[in-house]
Amino acid sequence: MIQIAVLGYGTVGSGVVEVIETNKADINKKAAEDLSVKYILDLRDFPGDPYADKVVHDYNIILNDPEVTVICETMGGTKPAYDFTKQALLQGKSVCTSNKELVAAHGPELIRIARENHCNYLFEASVGGGIPIIRPLNYSLTAEKIDGITGILNGTTNYILTKMDKEGAGFEEVLKEAQDKGYAERNPEADVEGYDACRKIAILSSLMSGQNVRYEDIYTEGITKITAADFKYAKQMDKSIKLLAMSRDTEKGFFAMVAPFMISREHPLYSVNGVFNAVYVHGNMLGDSMYYGRGAGKLPTASAVVSDVVDCARHQGKTIMCFWDEENVNVADISNAERKFFVRVRADQREAVMAAFGSLAEVNVGIVKEFAFMTQVMSEKEFHEKIEQAGGCLNRIRIMA
Ligand code: HSE
Repeated sequence: MIQIAVLGYGTVGSGVVEVIETNKADINKKAAEDLSVKYILDLRDFPGDPYADKVVHDYNIILNDPEVTVICETMGGTKPAYDFTKQALLQGKSVCTSNKELVAAHGPELIRIARENHCNYLFEASVGGGIPIIRPLNYSLTAEKIDGITGILNGTTNYILTKMDKEGAGFEEVLKEAQDKGYAERNPEADVEGYDACRKIAILSSLMSGQNVRYEDIYTEGITKITAADFKYAKQMDKSIKLLAMSRDTEKGFFAMVAPFMISREHPLYSVNGVFNAVYVHGNMLGDSMYYGRGAGKLPTASAVVSDVVDCARHQGKTIMCFWDEENVNVADISNAERKFFVRVRADQREAVMAAFGSLAEVNVGIVKEFAFMTQVMSEKEFHEKIEQAGGCLNRIRIMA
């Protein structure tokens, strides 16, 4: 019998309990042991809940119970989750988490502590919700040198951008609707400013490189400046706009960024719509592979947490190798990254833009007060210099190659 404690009885925590109950027979068979939820830690009480008698308010009860060998940390945030996780691992209790903030901030340290104490710190649910992506990177693609990851890693922003694309609506209008329907938080900053996707690509980039990619080193731009007009132009070019999180291991350095990109219909990520997430991985032997599914939500995320619990059950007393060293990757300045840009300026800037950029391709959707164009391939630095010379722009969006 594997006795489990769940930390945080919110959306994901209650999902963990539900997944274990609903799929009990299958899960126990796959774990080769019965899983049982012994404790649920929460500040609140849940009178009437079938698991109300499992709820405790003191973490020490869980820590001091030798029967508990696996902890599901579904609290979110770094405080007190960091201390709770560390204390558990130091006692040899494995921790399975959906907490991307904590994994991005302290992942390599917690993985090392788990290794030193012959247990596991597993985090399949921290990126892409229910999509298997951590395990493929850790186990399945071990024969590859992975040199590129591009992901749609945030369901809220993908939902908003998809609505803007399909309905021609503005950002504020769609955000409000998403909030009313519960698809976006009342405080949407972490999602719409790209911070959530940044934590997630930091985790994937670290697994890609085997060293630590600090989320603080990743250039991050959100979707708040994207307008209905931008989508009009994108449509004219047979493209859409997606918030992409990407990293590239190149001869010029290791690049990582989060930003809205225009993406062509031919690209597999073009069709990833609504709350869905996808991760597009390039390996030097396999080439491209893509992992697609529900990146958020109670049961998909909980399913990934429980899959980690099953892994813990199968590896009792053993550490599943995870190559994520504490040494930091030197993340290159994006000013040297090269790409095309879509740019909108005032109509009276046409001559100045022509002079600064030389060769460009105009995009016309009949907005007379504007001049819009696509640049040649150039570095970010070169683009900034040229657009400054031309008097700035109304908006610019990077174009995915
Ligand atoms: N806010 C996140 C999203 C939840 O919208 O994808 C899953 O991490």
